[in-house]
Amino acid sequence: MNQAANNQTRIFLKFPNRDEASKFAAEIFYIAYTKFENLLFGTATGQTPVKIYEYFIEMMETVAGSENDLTFRQLDNYISPGAKKGELPFYSYQTELENSVWKVPHLDAYVPYEWMNPEAEVGRYKTIIEATNKWASYFIQLLGIGDKDGHIAFNMPGDAFDSTVHVVDLNQETIEANANKFFGGDTTKVPKKAITSGIADILEANAIVMAGFGKAKADIMHRSFFGEVTTDVPASALQTHDGILFVILDEESASVIAEKEGESVFANPEDIDIWEIL
Ligand code: F6R
Repeated sequence: MNQAANNQTRIFLKFPNRDEASKFAAEIFYIAYTKFENLLFGTATGQTPVKIYEYFIEMMETVAGSENDLTFRQLDNYISPGAKKGELPFYSYQTELENSVWKVPHLDAYVPYEWMNPEAEVGRYKTIIEATNKWASYFIQLLGIGDKDGHIAFNMPGDAFDSTVHVVDLNQETIEANANKFFGGDTTKVPKKAITSGIADILEANAIVMAGFGKAKADIMHRSFFGEVTTDVPASALQTHDGILFVILDEESASVIAEKEGESVFANPEDIDIWEIL
């Protein structure tokens, strides 16, 4: 990884809507790809990144003849005991990922295997994290955030900031949300565990792009970046990140920050030279 001294840079950006915000976020990853020879792109799943990936794929289609190399590494995944490779439940992260970012052609992608024995998978993924960090000349991580509790990846309130890859017992709220979404409320059919990169793994990134849209994320965005640094709010760990942090918001998700901290917190996107900042 880039060992150059990384002073802390925090850039808050507010866009009129999710579409414009996603386009800007995609541009950060695209410019990182054009600038760095070996780019490690840490991916997240969920609703937030969907449009970011769409724009990113569009931008990547315009690159011709770049010598630069790109590797994707997914943050986390469910664990579905009994699931077989190729026969995964339809809510699987694998499906979600294949439908989005993995469409970028000719690139390597690492993802925690849902069907593996969890403890063996923790060991395998730790090795992948070490190897890809070593390979990368720059590591940029995309993050979403849990609406209420500020979780990042599957790092939940109370998890230590120095945690690395580990297995997580999903909380009842997540289990019920998945059951309602996919199985008519039947909680026996959904995964109860997940495997996740730890907060320490995330903080290794040279640059972090945190994106979050909609009213439901407004309060937690404020608590995470302007509140106390505490394991009660996992995303508050990002305040300790020694590197570059972009926080990409829409009007709604930025509303509490704007109200409590004032509009001057937000940079004008037109003034941001992404190439220079990375
Ligand atoms: C996804 C992940 C989660 C989500 C978070 C927000 O890999 O690790 O932490 O980023 O749950 O989800 P959305 O984007 O669906 O609101």
